[in-house]
Amino acid sequence: MKLCMIGTGYVGLVSGVCFSDMGNNVICVDKDERKINNLKKGIVPIYEPGLDELVKKNLKNKRLSFSSDLNKSIKKSDIIFICVGTPTKKNSSAADLTYVFNVAKSISRKIKKFKIIITKSTVPVTTGDEIEKIISKNLSKKLFEVVSNPEFLREGEAIRDFMYPDRIVVGTKSNKARNKIKNLYSPLISKGSKYIETSRRSAELIKYAANAFLATKITFINEISNLCEKIDVDVEDVSIGIGSDKRVGERFLRAGPAYGGSCFPKDTKAIVSTSDKFKTNLSVIKSVIKSNENRNSLLLSKIYSILKNKIKNKKITFLGVTFKANTDDMRDSSSLKLIPALSNKGAIINYYDPTGYKRIFSKYKNVTYSSSINEAINKSDLIIIHTEWNDFKSIDFKKYSKSKKLIIYDLRNLYSRSKINNMGIKYYGIGR
Ligand code: UGA
Repeated sequence: MKLCMIGTGYVGLVSGVCFSDMGNNVICVDKDERKINNLKKGIVPIYEPGLDELVKKNLKNKRLSFSSDLNKSIKKSDIIFICVGTPTKKNSSAADLTYVFNVAKSISRKIKKFKIIITKSTVPVTTGDEIEKIISKNLSKKLFEVVSNPEFLREGEAIRDFMYPDRIVVGTKSNKARNKIKNLYSPLISKGSKYIETSRRSAELIKYAANAFLATKITFINEISNLCEKIDVDVEDVSIGIGSDKRVGERFLRAGPAYGGSCFPKDTKAIVSTSDKFKTNLSVIKSVIKSNENRNSLLLSKIYSILKNKIKNKKITFLGVTFKANTDDMRDSSSLKLIPALSNKGAIINYYDPTGYKRIFSKYKNVTYSSSINEAINKSDLIIIHTEWNDFKSIDFKKYSKSKKLIIYDLRNLYSRSKINNMGIKYYGIGR
């Protein structure tokens, strides 16, 4: 099939590349010409395991191309995916739909024969209705169908999530669109993915409700971990104990720092804003947002108490600063709250991240980047394991403890307390 992805951010690029790998002809369009020129040479702007190789492979076999020419790209395609960003509005918690509506306006003037227009961007319920209205100002309704087909890709696992999805959700009333889209996804359906056909509004809401539910699950176990710390219970045991019940499910029950990234914080706020608009109260999600925001202060208090409130000139190492492992994404990472607060209190901070130096920290006093785990730990009184990269899972802490007193605060519970204690190192984890 001939596809056009508008927007080569995370969603557009990963989906476009995977669709091309499944045998479709895909044009990825972006108005950022520099990015497009780089992509044409196989230079990928984001860190995502496996993406580089797939881009190069499909550029070579000519199923994948990149362009800044929206007009030509639309002309050549049967299905158009809108994959532009929907960030949080300034001064409000609603999603900013400016980019989505601008794309709708511009494509409405370029369509000459029937096209299926699919929103893959995360958009609040009823956005599809708005897009349809915008396009129908310039175009007969016979020439297009607007469909919702949300993505459920995790950064760092996006290719696997695309190629082996738990489910594919498609929201439309049109039989014509439905058949074509089912055909497009048939290679994934035949591998066992659940295919859910529903209304456009349901598909839009499913996306937000899924992210809000996962954020709730994480926040729930994070709060339980606070209780575990007071009563000498290991939260890992609780996660396994409750997660083994199929009604609960074992995934997304890892206690840790506040959840972050480009989706959960933004989407939980946006669904609350939608519910306000329709005059209902999503009180559970509201309290999840609040609890997650409070989590940074809670972890900071714990760090202060580990250091006996003597923070000035203490050398603190952060292992990993991105919001989770296998990504270079810093958006809404809890390190953006923890590091500045500790730096303000006079701590001397160094961090190591497998994805390298982060410019965002250059504005803070006493925050430096170390180019290796070894260098980072050598400089340290307290090591904070902030992300769960494999690189951090088997560090030989014993070799460092010989020459100095070390304390480890393991925010991802990567290590066993007793093993670390046996090395003569003080150990603190989450919920244990
Ligand atoms: C999330 C969803 O998982 C995807 O299904 C969705 O498509 C995506 O948002 C999106 O809307 O685009 P992502 O933000 O990439 O994906 O990352 P997650 O793996 O979901 O992690 C989000 C946050 O939760 C991270 O801060 C992570 O450390 C935290 N987390 C996750 C935990 O603290 N514990 C867990 O058990 C799982």
